[in-house]
Amino acid sequence: MVNNCAVILAAGDGKRMKSEKPKVLCEVLFQPMLGWVLKACRQAQTDDICVVTGKGAEQVEAYLGESCQTVRQEERLGTGHALMQAETFIRAHAGGHLLVLCGDAPFVDADTIRAAYQLHIAQDNAVTVITAEVGQPKGYGRMLREGERIVGIVEEKDATEEQKQIREINSGAYWFRIDDMLAVAGGLTNDNSQREYYLTQLVPLLLAAGKKAGGYRADSEDVVLGANDRAGLLTLNRIAAERVIEKHLANGVEFLSTDGVLIMPEVEIGPETTILPGTILKGKTVIGKGSTIGPNSLVENSTIGDDTVFNASQCYQSVIHDHVKIGPFCHIRPNSKVMDHVKIGDFVEVKNSTIGEYTAVSHLTYVGDSDVGKNVNFGCGVVTVNYDGVNKHRCVIEDNAFIGCNTNLVAPVHIGNSAYTGAGSTITKDVPADALGIARARQSNLEGFAAKKLEGRKRKL
Ligand code: UD1
Ligand code: CA
Repeated sequence: MVNNCAVILAAGDGKRMKSEKPKVLCEVLFQPMLGWVLKACRQAQTDDICVVTGKGAEQVEAYLGESCQTVRQEERLGTGHALMQAETFIRAHAGGHLLVLCGDAPFVDADTIRAAYQLHIAQDNAVTVITAEVGQPKGYGRMLREGERIVGIVEEKDATEEQKQIREINSGAYWFRIDDMLAVAGGLTNDNSQREYYLTQLVPLLLAAGKKAGGYRADSEDVVLGANDRAGLLTLNRIAAERVIEKHLANGVEFLSTDGVLIMPEVEIGPETTILPGTILKGKTVIGKGSTIGPNSLVENSTIGDDTVFNASQCYQSVIHDHVKIGPFCHIRPNSKVMDHVKIGDFVEVKNSTIGEYTAVSHLTYVGDSDVGKNVNFGCGVVTVNYDGVNKHRCVIEDNAFIGCNTNLVAPVHIGNSAYTGAGSTITKDVPADALGIARARQSNLEGFAAKKLEGRKRKL
């Protein structure tokens, strides 16, 4: 699409969300609605984008970063006025075509955008409106057609009772031939019930200039769906979550129930993996075949391999390999690498560490900033003491080591191959290979101690 570009209208405030943030930053499946629209735009190969900001402009600009241009609409005078704030950007694409999208309609998709563009070119239209046939047209602009040709769009507030019966509505997404659009844009007025400059007025203006207008009917009414309040946002979240789950079902992923399951669109899951209730999979997460994830688990930007069980735990920015058992109640923090056949049991936290093959960390343990070899056994309650209040240090634990219960490993420290540490030791010095490191006071028993104590103590039994 040579010299084509897109303008995304995102200046509206969304008062009914009762939120400090602008409406386009309200999230559907953990991603701002504006992010969905940008993604569709880019997937449709229209990646030269200008976003019109207004309410919360700083927040929207911060979210966008350097990814696209922005222009501010200082006063909200209508969609037509919003579009023309991007006039300089649009003029720079003279000779091309302009895609206009609303930042608060997240389900517009690349296929619809591309198909509408093909129709736009095939029919040689100056404007092609993406429309949808909906059950509840209330609130939307209605498409006025004469035969197949579009003759105008009338807003709900300006419509006659007869026009309100029309169920084909304006999605708010359009393709324009830029030169034609710019030639008539000066004619926009605010001569309507809302005293706003309506973008939709470009249709009659182009027709009056002898140009052609067309309508592309989208396959699904979802393309128009937006959210005005929290209830609407919840509906969008439900629809988005169901759609993602349907895709995984078709790929052979098993769901016994989808209660509380939220999976972001880019997540990949292999066949014969089971996702149990309450599982949230976020970001660029990849899960292999034959694994079981959940119940009540959260995995973000991580990779989990094949035949792994991840039970009631959380994992962030980490890699877990095959045949691993994790949980319940584990916290795998960023930059961890858990190799094949590892077992990490209840109440274990792992951070910025590698855990070698067949190693077991079964209960109540903290492994931070550590390089742990293969076939190591951690007793219950081991703590790597990785932070001295100023700096973090690493522990190195070689293959086949056996770390006794309640050992403190004060980093930096090195436990050699096949070495042991005695239960309850606070290890501050390296333990050589095959040695036992023991660092605790010897026990002494005071005979008859209780009898002396008894005088001052009332015992019930
Ligand atoms: C608009 C269309 C309507 C269509 C509907 C689809 C017009 C006149 N009407 O109505 O035909 O059915 O979208 O959802 O265009 N915005 C700005 N600046 C403004 C006003 C709006 O940036 O001054 C942005 C909003 O943030 C939003 C988009 O434009 O992303 C649409 O605005 P909105 O007020 O929701 O338009 P509707 O009344 O819903
Ligand atoms: Ca709207």
